[in-house]
Amino acid sequence: MAGHVEVDRLTYLLPDGRLLLHEVSFRVGDGVKAALVGPNGAGKTTLLRLVAGDLRPDDGRVVSSGGLGVMRQFIGDVRDGRSVHDLLLSVAPAQVRAAAETLADAESAIAARDDEATQLAYAQAVADYADAGGYDMEVVWDVCATASMGLSYDAIRDRPVTTLSGGEQKRLVLEALLRGPDQVLLLDEPDNYLDVPGKQWLEDRLRATDKTVLLVSHDRRLLAEVADRIVTVEDRGVWIHGGGFATYAKGREERISRLAERLRRWDEEHARLRRLVHTLRQTAANNDALASSYRAARTRLSRFEEAGPPQRPPKAQNVRIRLRGAVPASVPSSARTWSSPA
Ligand SMILES: Nc1ncnc2c1ncn2[C@@H]1O[C@H](COP(=O)(O)OP(=O)(O)O)[C@@H](O)[C@H]1O
Ligand SMILES: [Mg+2]
Repeated sequence: MAGHVEVDRLTYLLPDGRLLLHEVSFRVGDGVKAALVGPNGAGKTTLLRLVAGDLRPDDGRVVSSGGLGVMRQFIGDVRDGRSVHDLLLSVAPAQVRAAAETLADAESAIAARDDEATQLAYAQAVADYADAGGYDMEVVWDVCATASMGLSYDAIRDRPVTTLSGGEQKRLVLEALLRGPDQVLLLDEPDNYLDVPGKQWLEDRLRATDKTVLLVSHDRRLLAEVADRIVTVEDRGVWIHGGGFATYAKGREERISRLAERLRRWDEEHARLRRLVHTLRQTAANNDALASSYRAARTRLSRFEEAGPPQRPPKAQNVRIRLRGAVPASVPSSARTWSSPA
């Protein structure tokens, strides 16, 4: 089974009207591990939620194949009354989630009034849950519970999520996604709340999986060990580095100098056209033959200005992204100096 996700000219305005993302496009192909990085508040979580379908874009679209499995940012810090079963359902494929809801309703209906109609509805709901893959998922969850907590699924199914540590919550959900049927995983800071062995485990598993992964992380080690593309969210857009973290700093410097150079050329051409218009205005006043040259130069200048300057290089304060964690030996020294926290 293959999966991919493609974001096509996505534009998103915050509820207060601020433009957060403008015409963002990128593609994560089958089996690719892509990391989303960027300063706090740049819009990484929002972008992931747009891809997941939690939010609707104001413009543009998201196309994906293979099914999306989503781990939202605050798993690891669940404080509500949900059970482990609810938590696992929340990351299950949509059809399992829907069938489980119908089944739960049919169960409450029987509890309230046990007659032939409710029994029939219950039997149907059980059959539908089986068809949707619900029982297959429970078999997977049993493996996940054993792997992450050393307990059977039945033993933890009704426990409140709050009785699991942050690391246990994360690990259980990650196991379920990695072992589940969805082929594209969207992971928002999956390394948060994990201890050192937990992070090592996550790196190994993400490297080993055939699934397509788009993840947000601030951890240099995870980025270095797992990501083979890096998507940087900055200044309302994204910039794609086609390689891993080891070559990221160099790629970024090159991009910034390329943008600066393009902007410098634009400024130069702008100044040249303005000087030309200025000179021709003065000479055309005493020379009718030059009047049409003057008009032509003015038109060129206004067209040039209408087209506007090229993209500006990112602002100085955004060049440094806060990253944490030890830098692995695979990262060259240029990347190390760049990635020291601002
Ligand atoms: N519902 C909302 N209403 C207003 N502002 C929001 C809302 N959700 C997010 N934001 C703002 O959008 C920006 C991007 O947030 P987020 O996507 O969480 O960033 P990141 O994950 O990159 O840190 C932040 O400035 C945040 O405060
Ligand atoms: Mg976030």
